[in-house]
Amino acid sequence: ALIYRAGVLGRRPAVPTDAAELERRATAAMAPRARAYVGGGAGGGATVRANRAAFDRRELVPRMATGRTSRDLSTTLLGHRLPTPLLLAPIGAAGVVARGSDLAVARAAAGCGVPYIVSNQGCSPMEEVAAALDGAPWWFQLYWSTDELLVDSLLHRAEAAGAAAVVVTLDTTMLGWRPQDLNLGSLPFSQGIGIAQYTSDPRFQEIVRERVAAKAASGRGEDVKVTLGAVRSLLSISREHPGSLRENLRSAAPRAAVETFLDIYSNPGLSWDALASLSRRTTLPILLKGILHPDDARRAAELGVSGIVVSNHGGRQVDGAIASLDALGPIREAVGPGMPLVLDSGVRTGSDVVKALACGADAVAVGRPYVYGLALAGQDGVRDVIENVVAELDLTLGLCGIGAVDEVGPHVLRAD
Ligand code: FNR
Repeated sequence: ALIYRAGVLGRRPAVPTDAAELERRATAAMAPRARAYVGGGAGGGATVRANRAAFDRRELVPRMATGRTSRDLSTTLLGHRLPTPLLLAPIGAAGVVARGSDLAVARAAAGCGVPYIVSNQGCSPMEEVAAALDGAPWWFQLYWSTDELLVDSLLHRAEAAGAAAVVVTLDTTMLGWRPQDLNLGSLPFSQGIGIAQYTSDPRFQEIVRERVAAKAASGRGEDVKVTLGAVRSLLSISREHPGSLRENLRSAAPRAAVETFLDIYSNPGLSWDALASLSRRTTLPILLKGILHPDDARRAAELGVSGIVVSNHGGRQVDGAIASLDALGPIREAVGPGMPLVLDSGVRTGSDVVKALACGADAVAVGRPYVYGLALAGQDGVRDVIENVVAELDLTLGLCGIGAVDEVGPHVLRAD
């Protein structure tokens, strides 16, 4: 509770300590497009609300006078000891919120010892994010491209850059129906924000060149001249400069790299057979993200994956999908106690973390809140969001009479 004490004794955190106020203030501070993209959910928002309702429905039953004076927040995940059961969820195109977004998040994560799941749709090449992490743990999140050589290239880069695991996101073979983005008529990607893993990739560059050449061969000469200019400027910008990238794109109409990205970033035909090939293609431990049905979890276990991220993508994909926390219990039952499970979607507080662990998670990932921290106060904001959740986790455990994260189980919840 050092952070708590610091607060009481006068250190004001860079961001509001209450999740709702954090969201309110960040939302007010963000530009309309960033607000729509980050805050938005699928359809009418039923699943965004369900994610929160599932946490609110569950109740902790604190135990008294246990005689304990300190808590052990550490836990083991994929064989690594972590200081807390917390990770940062992969967030693509965070450059809509702040320049240098992913590098700021990386430094904050490294400072807190919280593993960062680096998005395939990040705003800096993963090699640069890894450098900013300076040895701190990170996982690479993969969207399965329709180009198999690109999948291999991204996996290879993640291994070479030191990722500790690869997380394959299964729930976004197509983007969900997101009215807030649709009503604005633009996504960050259409402006070149969030494609840095691609433009820095040799296989992707090859694909773009092939496409440009094919266009040239088909005789659309003038188009190609401008396209080549666009490709050259895009590929020369391998680090995140959303502003200048945007300018480049405005002046270079055909936007070949962006179009190529939109065509190939994800594979609606992704199958369990393709997933089965993964362990032969990478040496990294594999986690599957976006699983909600116990039968899919069983299937993942049969494939021999190292873990599952139980997630509905923060309610951004299927409106009316089951709350992530409600999916967790049946999945834990299906895969047994040995399968590492990470829960995300709706985690906002330390109390939420305890509830997720009690429902069967080994760890949780947080998404939007750290983006709100980033929007309000950059790297410090991300750090404070993490520290606030961890501080509240520590207090909640202490006040519930629980001595360690690893001691949390269903017994800490009110029985239904
Ligand atoms: C995401 N999410 C996501 N997931 C993923 O696998 N790859 C990605 O690139 C992204 N990008 C992304 C952008 C934004 C703006 C949001 C809000 C979310 C989903 C993310 O990893 C996670 O599942 C949710 O954010 C968790 O829900 P909360 O914590 O935001 O409620």
